[in-house]
Amino acid sequence: MKFPVLSLLAARILSVSAGTVLWDGRFNEFTSSTDLNNWSWGNQVGSYQYYIHGSSAVTAYVNLSPSYKNPADAGSKQGAKITLDNTAYWNGQNMRRTELIPQTSAAINKGKVYYHFSLMRKDTNAPATTREHQIAFFESHFTELKSGWQSGAAGVSDPLLRWCIGGQTKWSTNWDADVWHNVAYEIDFSAGTVGFWHSTGSNPLTQIVAPVAASTSSNGADWHVGVLELPRDGYPDSTEDYYWSGVYIESGSLTTSVSGPGSPSDGGSSPISSSSSSSARSASSTTFSTSTTSKAITTSTASKVTTTSTTSSAPATTTSSSGCTASQWSQCGGIGYSGCTTCASPYTCKKSNDWYSQCL
Ligand SMILES: *[C@@H]1O[C@H](CO)[C@@H](O)[C@H](O)[C@H]1NC(C)=O
Repeated sequence: MKFPVLSLLAARILSVSAGTVLWDGRFNEFTSSTDLNNWSWGNQVGSYQYYIHGSSAVTAYVNLSPSYKNPADAGSKQGAKITLDNTAYWNGQNMRRTELIPQTSAAINKGKVYYHFSLMRKDTNAPATTREHQIAFFESHFTELKSGWQSGAAGVSDPLLRWCIGGQTKWSTNWDADVWHNVAYEIDFSAGTVGFWHSTGSNPLTQIVAPVAASTSSNGADWHVGVLELPRDGYPDSTEDYYWSGVYIESGSLTTSVSGPGSPSDGGSSPISSSSSSSARSASSTTFSTSTTSKAITTSTASKVTTTSTTSSAPATTTSSSGCTASQWSQCGGIGYSGCTTCASPYTCKKSNDWYSQCL
């Protein structure tokens, strides 16, 4: 007789202890990664924008499976394996990149929000320790994870997984195989601070680094769920796999349990369904520059790009920002773009499609 009351109470306590999910990137509505192909610039549906990848089929770069998730993550039906292979060059760039971007008009770039994800590597197709990798980053690199040898560093290789603010390492650990690293970036866009929550395996998140000052900025469509690898002469393009679980963005109070808010079997009741991005499909920004590119090598200076938050309706055509120049690889035009339209010498602005032109 007591159980119904107790479980009701427990449910209420659970529902108030979790925050509100602003955007749910946990792949629960995906049958397979080919669902990512549903999204295009002209048809911005689903929970992810899919455009930063090489020219092969999506299954060369992203695959979904229950065996790819953190087993402790009860909120996810499956995890994602994100791959860099020797074709993973995006848009003529010299960096290998496979990245997903949240598709949402929710306020993921305002106030205080928590960006959740779990990351793991295996010994098979391990990320190279001899090249710099930027993981779960924003365009301006105000916060991100990094792995491998860091550009400009002495030596040849580096076994660390790092958490960085503006390119400066604030926390690191040896990136061992088969260990799930659960992360929440505690971002306060109003205060201009970021804190770091972390745990391994099934342990609840704890705050490892209290909020520190950061140049927080995002247009709401520039968090890169995936990896960018900087080029390095003399090192081969071996295949690398990155495993992701429990990707979501939350406001309110932080969910520290790795089992996450909600579960795939509860039909999305309570906070998730009300604010899930899959119902928020308005055109979001097409502004994304590639400041992550050559400038990313000196990440602390990579924050010069103007991004604009967008609006609800169909994007307007490019409005030029005067008096500035876009660097090599940066975006310089496209529908909805409002950054610099002049390329730094000797590069010229080349149109890829109606939504994207780039300095090449
Ligand atoms: C992608 O489109 C297919 C066909 O319309 C649909 O069945 C599927 O649910 C879509 N996937 C997502 C994740 O929205």
